[in-house]
Amino acid sequence: MKHTYNHPLRPQFHFTSEAHWLNDPNGMVYFDGEYHLFYQHHPESTVWGPMHWGHAISRDLVRWEHQPIALYPDRNGTIFSGSAVVDWHDTSGFFDGGAGLVAIYTQTEMIEGSDQSKQRQSIAYSRDNGRTWIAFAGNPVLADERCPDFRDPKVFWHEASKHWVMVLAAGDRLFLYTSNNLQDWTFASEFGAADGSHDGVWECPDLFALPVDGRKGNEKWVMIVSIGDNEQMPEGSRTQYFVGEFDGRTFVNDNSPETILWMDHGRDNYAGVTWSDAPGNGEDRLLIGWMNNWKYANLIPTGEWRGAMTLPRKLSLEQRAGGIRLIQHTLDALDGLRLGGTEWSDLTIESGHNQLLAEQGELLEMAVEFELGTAAEFGIKLKSGTRGDVEYETIVGYDAAAGELFIDRTKAGDSAFHPQFACKHGASLAAPNGRVKLRLWVDRSSVELFADEGGLVMTDQLFPHAGNDSIELYATGGSVRVVSLQYYPLQSVYASSTTKETVQK
Ligand code: FRU
Repeated sequence: MKHTYNHPLRPQFHFTSEAHWLNDPNGMVYFDGEYHLFYQHHPESTVWGPMHWGHAISRDLVRWEHQPIALYPDRNGTIFSGSAVVDWHDTSGFFDGGAGLVAIYTQTEMIEGSDQSKQRQSIAYSRDNGRTWIAFAGNPVLADERCPDFRDPKVFWHEASKHWVMVLAAGDRLFLYTSNNLQDWTFASEFGAADGSHDGVWECPDLFALPVDGRKGNEKWVMIVSIGDNEQMPEGSRTQYFVGEFDGRTFVNDNSPETILWMDHGRDNYAGVTWSDAPGNGEDRLLIGWMNNWKYANLIPTGEWRGAMTLPRKLSLEQRAGGIRLIQHTLDALDGLRLGGTEWSDLTIESGHNQLLAEQGELLEMAVEFELGTAAEFGIKLKSGTRGDVEYETIVGYDAAAGELFIDRTKAGDSAFHPQFACKHGASLAAPNGRVKLRLWVDRSSVELFADEGGLVMTDQLFPHAGNDSIELYATGGSVRVVSLQYYPLQSVYASSTTKETVQK
């Protein structure tokens, strides 16, 4: 079957499956020059169903090559989320003394005569760089019949204690286990029943160390936990993180139990976890999330595909005024998508006089630094045409009095599929020295907004009827100065490459 990537709402530089349903990223691992991305996939439908692991490979995290399905449901059930590791020293005994890939994932099957499912952990291994997988004959390797929610194992090697560690979501908390061979798992500890947000079921944990401010010897551990949708909460499913200590068995939260740290203040970044064994200097870690929300994931108006990933992000830790915070940046490799660009400096935007930046703003990257003036509100408008008497636009704005950065997608386009999709939401953002610096990525059906030097991120889906056309800067109630602005139209990853010059204005 030939798939069309040129649908008006199909992401052009975000990962999507060739066709059909996609949710969580799974099993991300780097091995032998290749980044692997597996994902929750229903290969026969555009809504969630019996889960498989879809698979894609990239050398640069920008362009992906689709692979055959890696894991199919078997006698132990369907294949839920999980992780993959490089077993460098053949601790599992699967690789004749060499190195290979081991995937650790949840299998789910219905309990006979009930409407309940049981969730157990299984493993599979690959001797050919992830191309084919063999399910371990002794599956499942971990079960606990007391827990109906018992899933999403994330496994890593803890060098100081010389054992594998598994973090697993168990309803309203995490269970941690250790193993020497990836097959036999011993309970070590639990975390979280009284910590952080419990607005929804806990899912998709991750645990890793990062140096604070890049200083070696000054490591802290980050625990990521996604929380499922709750009908009472407009935010739907979202992701929180904790910062603390880990000794190979037990995680201790540095902050008070009621502290909640959100990874993303937008509506569409869920189930994100990090790559195992990615190359680098140890100062950051690579994460990718599912750019969707369980509140409306099965209903979004896409096409033969449904669901996309966020841009991959480099995570690091920084000491900030409020404490140690997770910082997110996009990858330099994306620079290769720029089609030239335009740079502005020292521009004043007056209330009622929008500044046109581009006639056609379908795929773009933009960095802008504003200096607060008399304007009560200012920012960027992604216009997408008029229908009847409604002018469609998405607003990325800053409310100067409230000190709040927001995305307003109430009139972004199609929102009829769910009553809570059309919304305006924001997060506090200080303006040190009266300045607000934003970086923005716009694809055909999403916007990713980075502020506070990577300390504040908002990821949102948009479904403009006519595509995004012009891009404007606006101010209300006074004026605002644009200190500098760089605007780069981007090319699709499906296009053959071309480059253009940057123009100064
Ligand atoms: C998170 C999640 C996981 C589960 C998977 C099923 O989005 O609910 O907890 O393993 O999706 O597709």
